[in-house]
Order: sequence, then C-alpha cells, then structure tokens
Amino acid sequence: MLVRLLYASRAADEVGNDAVGAILNVSRQHNQAAGVTGVLCFCSNARVFLQVLEGGRQPVSTIYNRIVNDARHRDVVLLSYEEIAERSFSGWSMGQVNMSRLNPSLLLKYSDSAILDPYAVAGKASLALLNELVATASVSSKV
Ligand SMILES: Cc1cc2nc3c(=O)[nH]c(=O)nc-3n(C[C@H](O)[C@H](O)[C@H](O)COP(=O)(O)O)c2cc1C
Repeated sequence: MLVRLLYASRAADEVGNDAVGAILNVSRQHNQAAGVTGVLCFCSNARVFLQVLEGGRQPVSTIYNRIVNDARHRDVVLLSYEEIAERSFSGWSMGQVNMSRLNPSLLLKYSDSAILDPYAVAGKASLALLNELVATASVSSKV
C-alpha cells in the first residue's frame, strides 16, 4: 500500500548548498533501497525545506522518523499524509527542485506572495506547486 507524505522544515544555520548535496546523496541511496521516491526543495533565501516522500507505508514512516530527528533542520511540520493509488514523483529516488528556474508567477498561483512559504499555505497548495514543478521540468536528478 502506497502513501504520500509532505512536510516543511527550517534549515539549521550551518546548512548550505554543500550540506543539501550531501543530504540528497544519502537520501538517494536509502530511498532507492527502500523503494521510496520524492522531491526535495530547499529555498536558500527563506531557508526552508519542502519535501515529499512516496512509497510503502512502513518505509516512508521509517525514513520520515529519521528525517524528523535530523539536527540539520527544525520546526518540522507535517503538511499532508495520504494513502495513494499511484505515485506522482516516481521518477526520482530524491529529486531536487531547481529554485533558480522557479517562476515567481507559479508561486503566486498558489500563494498570496511570491515567496516560498509552506508554513503559510495549505498542504494541498504546496503539493500542487510541487506537481507543477515536476511537470515544468524544474526537478533534476532522476532515480
Ligand atoms: C531536509 C532533509 C531531508 C532528508 N531526506 C532524506 C530522505 O529522503 N531519505 C533519507 O534516507 N534520508 C534523508 N535525510 C537524511 C536523514 O535525516 C539521515 O541523516 C540519513 O538518512 C541517515 O543516513 P545514514 O544512517 O546512512 O548516515 C534527510 C535529511 C534532511 C535534513
């Protein structure tokens, strides 16, 4: 049985692009082995992470619990959790959203400001945004 989980968090002060690269490398290894797919978005201006995980209920739960306890971020908020019939992010063991290609008008479509702030909008809106980013090829690194 498949589930999809979406959360937001705030990056710890020391986290920069190198740390995000390291997180992605480890994530791809673990997620591939666990049959988990998804996308990670790191907004360096707002210092916010937005991540979606899809896969079996048990592996997603195990990985999420590990992520929540990671000192590289805090204020982890569960935005959405649902059982799903099919994956939306099956192409990435952990894809990375290319923020430089993020069109401000896309942010405005789902939010009252052009700043990525998953804490301020509904989980559904953040999920819709991620789906559009995938559709507009703004996500890199396939499985
Ligand atoms: C924002 C963020 C996202 C992460 N995403 C994943 C992930 O998708 N999969 C994963 O296995 N670990 C992820 N991690 C890393 C885990 O918290 C943990 O450090 C890692 O899985 C431990 O791997 P290790 O035991 O091989 O060192 C993430 C960490 C952060 C801070």
